Amino acid sequence: MKKAIYPGSFDPVTLGHLDIIRRSSKLVDHLIVGVLNNSGKSPLFSVDERVNMLKEVTSDLDNVEILSFSGLLVDFARKHEVQTIIRGLRAVTDFEYELAMSQTNRVAAPEVDTIFLNTSLKYAYLSSSIVKEMAMYGGDISKFVPKLIVDKVYDKYNTAGEISTLKGED
Ligand code: PNS
Repeated sequence: MKKAIYPGSFDPVTLGHLDIIRRSSKLVDHLIVGVLNNSGKSPLFSVDERVNMLKEVTSDLDNVEILSFSGLLVDFARKHEVQTIIRGLRAVTDFEYELAMSQTNRVAAPEVDTIFLNTSLKYAYLSSSIVKEMAMYGGDISKFVPKLIVDKVYDKYNTAGEISTLKGED
């Protein structure tokens, strides 16, 4: 059985992440989406919230499992007997960090390989940080995150009211 892990912070999951999850799920028999539980990062959403949001937006994908992990990614991979890590590459600016991370992981666990999927062009600019910045100031994030997630992000910033006011003016 071909298995892979798609790891990330997913704070929150974006349409770019979802695109990579959908495409990866077609390449392997079983895809684990690994949600990093890293206390050092002070995320907007708790790890349980991030896991639950990912479960909701992937509920139609039978071979996708959402799990959280803490500590090293390679330990998580070994625990689940997975030897393939999938990461999305948006632009050349991602490359240096991603290469260093994949090489570090390879030194730590030579049996684990990283493969990169290029992000679909329409999501090439997108990141969770951009989504949070937009939401914080009441911007429209409906083109950036799955429908089910939009209000959950606004709720964190109490900006949903501003959006409905703007919509009401149309
Ligand atoms: O979505 P992100 O924040 O870019 O994902 C980064 C992630 C979770 C893949 C990376 O930070 C990670 O694997 N963290 C776990 C700790 C680890 O294994 N670090 C060593 C690799 S340099």
